[in-house]
Amino acid sequence: MNVADSERTVTSLRASGYEMTDRADQADVILLNTCSVRDRAEQKVFNRFGEIRRKSKSQAVYGVMGCVAQLEGDSFFDRAPYLNFIAGTRATDRIPLLIREIRRGRRRVSDYGEREAGERRDILPGERHAQHVAFIPIVEGCNKFCTYCIVPYSRGRERSRVAWEILEEVRALISNGYQEIQLIGQNVNSYRPKDERGLEGFSGATPFSRLLRAVAATGIPRIKYTTSFPRDFHADIIAAMDEHENLCNWVHLPVQSGSDRVLRAMRRGYTVMDYFKRISYIKHARRRYALTSDLIVGFPGETDEDFEETVKLVERCQYDSLYLFKYSKRPRTPAAKLTDEVPEEKKTVRFRLLEEVQSKIQARIFAGYLDRHLEVLVEGLSAKSKGDLTGHSTCNKVINFPGDSRLVGSILRVKVTAVKSHSLYGSLVS
Ligand code: 5AD
Ligand code: SF4
Repeated sequence: MNVADSERTVTSLRASGYEMTDRADQADVILLNTCSVRDRAEQKVFNRFGEIRRKSKSQAVYGVMGCVAQLEGDSFFDRAPYLNFIAGTRATDRIPLLIREIRRGRRRVSDYGEREAGERRDILPGERHAQHVAFIPIVEGCNKFCTYCIVPYSRGRERSRVAWEILEEVRALISNGYQEIQLIGQNVNSYRPKDERGLEGFSGATPFSRLLRAVAATGIPRIKYTTSFPRDFHADIIAAMDEHENLCNWVHLPVQSGSDRVLRAMRRGYTVMDYFKRISYIKHARRRYALTSDLIVGFPGETDEDFEETVKLVERCQYDSLYLFKYSKRPRTPAAKLTDEVPEEKKTVRFRLLEEVQSKIQARIFAGYLDRHLEVLVEGLSAKSKGDLTGHSTCNKVINFPGDSRLVGSILRVKVTAVKSHSLYGSLVS
């Protein structure tokens, strides 16, 4: 989401006549985008500004955007006196106006306002983070209020974009040669636009499954989406995926914990049994869908028994990959008030144990790919091994293989010849 926000900000800055540089010594304006989901977010921002300021022009204008900016508010000015402007998470499109104010002589400005009606969403192709894969935000913000999570506070209430606008963006990306789009949002499957223009004629039990069908019908070669919320993950999503080859075979369904007690304390709104029901839609689908998840260890009050339940869940779900996090206390969230914190060392032990469990599962799943043919979108040259290309399969695995740089941007069949712990290696099938 932050990458998408940066792309949008750069597009609006360029429209106002700015040019981009990644050299601090050449920049007249220096802007940091920030994330506050975990860890010492504010400290990271101060440290980064410290590094940059040593190299930058003495007259440079400094700004901060993103979640840390939204949450810190004007107190940021006191802690970082060099800062000139602060743009909240919905103020990205007004950043050129904030800079103009500073250049007109104001010392400090901030904007924590909402998005404005009719704001343009188009992103210049050159500002996308990648040339062949594009992110399309479809839902912003979140209403779920899981007790550990800062997102509802930093990104505000959930807002869905209207479908016709999303579809227009997909068509523009197709004509610009994009092969893959990723529909993004904190909870894409909670998608519920104010009006349903653009979805007429597409069947589905929920607006999200109708949107999937509508996007698939544009003919874009590959569509991925992330993140899904378990409670809103209905069988119809899998039905839509089964119908359309271009809806890629990957589902990211964060579970967070395998203990009902902890799930309740997290206020996730589902039980382990509810989650397994969702998983069974995926496991019983017509195709094999890769399944990935997020998990938090060490939520306040998590006992050894709770943790055992989580290990059992991981063993049962057989995830293709798993993003593990140690619980990190976020000020202002309800969980921050809980006192029965799990000691750091215990979190580390649990983290490592789960890592080990998952790595065995993953090794077995990855070994199953050996000798198989995968459809790969070639995204660039491998950073690690010279002469190799890199890309993702439709099941979202990283795969490297030897090939000519002119193949970047194409979708090719690659035979898997070796497996590593987090990626595959292969050779082109002629
Ligand atoms: N502590 C640890 N992990 C967190 N996540 C969100 N908030 C926290 C927190 N306070 C994790 C969740 C989420 C992912 C994006 O980050 O697992 O799915
Ligand atoms: Fe945070 Fe929960 Fe919303 Fe995900 S669903 S963004 S974890 S509040």
